[in-house]
Order: sequence, then structure tokens, then C-alpha cells
Amino acid sequence: MPNLQRDPLWYKTAVFYEVYVQSFYDANADGIGDFRGMKDQLDYLEWLGIDCLWLLPFYGSPMRDGGYDISDFFSIMPEYGTLNDFSELLAAAHERGIRVVADLVMNHTSDQHPWFLESRQPGSAKRDWYVWSDTNERYPDARIIFVDTERSNWAWDETAGAYYWHRFFSHQPDLNYANEQVQEQMLSVIRFWLDIGLDGFRLDAVPYLFEREGSSCENLPETHAFLKRVRSEVDKDYEDIVLLAEANQWPADVVAYFGDADECHMAFHFPLMPRMFMAARRQVRYPVVEILEQTPDIAAGCQWGLFLRNHDELTLEMVTDEERDYMYGEYAKDPRMKVNLGIRRRLAPLLENSRAEIELFHCMLLSLPGTPIIYYGDELGMGDNIYLGDRDSVRTPMQWTLDRNAGFSRADFAQLYLPVLLDPVYGYQAVNVESAQRDQYSFLQWIRRMLAIRRQHPVLSMGSLHMLHPANPSIFAYVRKLNDDIVLVVNNLSARAQAAELDLSEYEGMVPVELLGRERFPQIGRLPYLLTFVRHGFYWFQLISESSPGD
Ligand code: NOJ
Ligand code: CA
Repeated sequence: MPNLQRDPLWYKTAVFYEVYVQSFYDANADGIGDFRGMKDQLDYLEWLGIDCLWLLPFYGSPMRDGGYDISDFFSIMPEYGTLNDFSELLAAAHERGIRVVADLVMNHTSDQHPWFLESRQPGSAKRDWYVWSDTNERYPDARIIFVDTERSNWAWDETAGAYYWHRFFSHQPDLNYANEQVQEQMLSVIRFWLDIGLDGFRLDAVPYLFEREGSSCENLPETHAFLKRVRSEVDKDYEDIVLLAEANQWPADVVAYFGDADECHMAFHFPLMPRMFMAARRQVRYPVVEILEQTPDIAAGCQWGLFLRNHDELTLEMVTDEERDYMYGEYAKDPRMKVNLGIRRRLAPLLENSRAEIELFHCMLLSLPGTPIIYYGDELGMGDNIYLGDRDSVRTPMQWTLDRNAGFSRADFAQLYLPVLLDPVYGYQAVNVESAQRDQYSFLQWIRRMLAIRRQHPVLSMGSLHMLHPANPSIFAYVRKLNDDIVLVVNNLSARAQAAELDLSEYEGMVPVELLGRERFPQIGRLPYLLTFVRHGFYWFQLISESSPGD
């Protein structure tokens, strides 16, 4: 790892970039992105200024759920390349100081996994590796997650003559974690990839590992105990690893995945994300403020993972029924935009391609407590294709240039794993890396500058959060503090120009320096501090003492 500094807390100041191998760049012209292609494009990621790649599942799979249906944990999809290509990608990323984490699906496998094929055979020694039952009535309190496609968490298997348990698609049987051998196997999988040089895992669907009668079968103590075991095994033999929990739960339940700083290092903040969209459309800060106030403090070694969009639908599981209706009404006007309890669209179309609003969302993403995670293509303002099935709407090829197939692949168009976007607003002729790099005022250039500024201010990654309460409800203002470093962030959620008075009396005598242009603003006095904003405007101010040199 030549250029990677030893740093057990690296994930606290990092910016993550989430990407599918198949979507990024196709080096061998078969229409499917691959590890060699990803390696070829590391220059771009380094230029952009990201610190960690999060690779979506690349393991052997029938690909009925974007690779979350694994049929071999120890191999990679042949279309993506060889294990050697994978190792080369890791080495090349590490040379650039970029870390790489990958999805790990512990909860379930594909029904094509040899373990399942064996388990379903009568008298199989592996019978107990999955959750079998003579009735489909056990665990009635467990909700159904994929409500559009599944009617029950149980599916009948003819060969086994029994029902098997599945929290997601019926082709994804849940592993039985009550079985010691399953636990051991999963630990071997983890060791296998860490030995090759991976820097950690996004742990898919962690709340569902164990089942228990009379419970919702989510967040059970047994599940936490196993995750703690994973952490201690990882800590024992490896350095600078991150475990990121995917637990789509309320903040009070999610914090349990940090344990006493002895479980997962990171966890996504799921409820915050839809509330940013709600606050923006209502043009008031309360939805965001409320959820942040309900978010417990976390230990020093722990970190939230923040995101605006990802490879799934904009999930509305962690909102009330009323809020969900509101979100559908505002953001899913075409029924095709809905899937399960969510909205299968990308960021730019959700925000109607408003550059000011897209910037505002990123301002919040990069300044609220947590590690920002950018979904590939969102740095360009890529769009979606709601005529594709399920969540493929948001998984189309990366748009590199205005050449054939967006410069993504030299294959025939018909051969691409999914069609590139061709529409006049978001199609690759309008939105691509090459044009955005040439245009000094593009969104891509803007976000690159913002990432650079953020990197200079660790307070934005690790500082404490103090909310301000201005009378103007459209103004969302907070102070981040880390020792003597103080940053004031002020966002205008309104689509109209606004003025607001902030109570900054605590900082009397200090001078706000705007971080993008390094302009000094008037000194803070005893009276409320007046700021004015253009629509969806924002400020990042460093508060400095008058006596200090200025920067
Ligand atoms: C969560 C993943 O993000 C999603 O894409 C997948 O379908 C489910 N887990 C099942 O693995
Ligand atoms: Ca390829």
C-alpha cells in the first residue's frame, strides 16, 4: 500500500464513491464494465478527490438482484474480470491513496448457491444452513420488505418439501445464523477478501441475520452479538478496516450497530435522507432538524454514512404514512417512478435539474456530521430511465464522453448491459465527464472544489453539531466545532430569496470568513447577525478570532 497512510480513523474524514463495476467503464468492449476499466478510470476519481470506492456486489451471481443474490462468495463475475484484475485494481487504487470497500451480503444467498442446492436435498447435512419450516406461519411479526413482488417471507420448496425463509426476493433464501457453521463460513469469506487487500465492507441487510419467534426479527441481540464477533476477528488480524452497516432503521435502533465502539465503525443515516427532500419541497427546515435532534451522539470512533441517493429506490420506510404520501405526490408524479416503499429516481431529476438546489443538497451532504457517499454519475447530474425495470432506472452506464455509448463501451449499443441515457436533458450528449471537465462552471467542477475545501476542514467531518433556531423557517443553520475550529453553515431551503437573523452572540467579536471565496464578512456583534440569500443559497463560514491572522 505505498501511498496509503496508516490511519485507523481514515473513514471519518473520507469521501466515499459508490459504483457498480459493470456500470463504470468497459475495457474489453463486451458491453459490461469491468475491473480493468475501473482501474483505467482511477485518474478521474483521483482528480475528483474521493478517498474510498464502495463497490457494489461483484461476486458470482445469477444477477437477479443486481448481484445481491450471491452464488459464490469466493469468486467474481467472469464478466468483470479475474481475481488478478481485482487485485490490480486494489493496488492501483492504494497507490493513489484511494481505499476500496465492497458490499458483503451476509443475510442471504442466491437460491442457486451450492449451499442452498445442497440444503434443500432431503437428509442434507447442510439442511440447517438455511431457515426451513413445515408451515409458513412462523415469525408472523416480521414485515415484508419487497412489497411489490413478495406476499410472504416464506416460500415453498418442492425438493425440500418445506418452506424456507427469505426477507427479500424469494430467490434469496436467508442463511441460518443460529448455525455455527454458517457463522464460520461468513468469517472465512471476510478473511478471504481482506487477505487480498480490501479495506472493508458495506454489510448488506444486517438487521435480519437472526430470527426469533414473537419479534420483528430485526435488530435482535443475537445479531449484534455476531457482528461484535466479526469486529473482534477483524480487529485481531487486520488494520484500518471499516465495517459499514446497512440498517434501514430509526436512529435509536441504528446506533446499536455501533455497539460500544466495538461493532460497526459506520452506519448509514437512512431517515435523514428522505427528510432532506421533504424539507426542500416544503421549504422549511423542521423535518431535518427533528431527525437530527432525535439522533443520539455516537462514540469517537464511530461515524454516520450520509447519502443523497444510491443504487436503490429513495426509500420511504422510515417516514410516516402521511409523509410518504406527500413524497409520492411531490417526487413520483408518474406511477412508474415508484417501487416498493420508495421512488426509483436519481438526484438531478428528483430536483428537476435545478443547479442551485442540487448544489444546496450537496452543501448539506458535505457539511452535516458524517461521511458523504456520492453515487456514481450524481457528480455529473446524470438522469434516470424509468422505463427500465425495478431499480435499473438508476443503474445506467456512466457517461464519459459524447462518443458512441457515452464513451463507456466500444461494444454495439444493443450489447450494453443497460442502454445509456439518450434523452435531450440527461442524455450523454448533454451530460458527460469530458464536457463537464472542460467547463470551469460545470457542477462537476463545483463539487470537486467543494470536496477540496471540505478536505481542508476536518471540523466538517468530525466536529460537533449545534443547531441554530432563526425565526425564518426556511433557513437551516448549524455550527460545527472541533477544538478551536468553528464552521457556521447556513442553508436557504426556499426557492425564493430570503433574509434571516441569526443569534450568534456566543461568537461575539469573531469574524465569519466565507470558505469558497475567503471573503471576510462583518464582525459578529451582540445584536442578531443579518444574512441575505439568493434562492437555495448557502454559506460555509469559518469563524475566526479577530486577533488571529485570518486564515
Ligand atoms: C439492500 C441492497 O441495497 C438492495 O439493492 C438489495 O436488493 C437488498 N439489500 C437485498 O440484498
Ligand atoms: Ca467488459
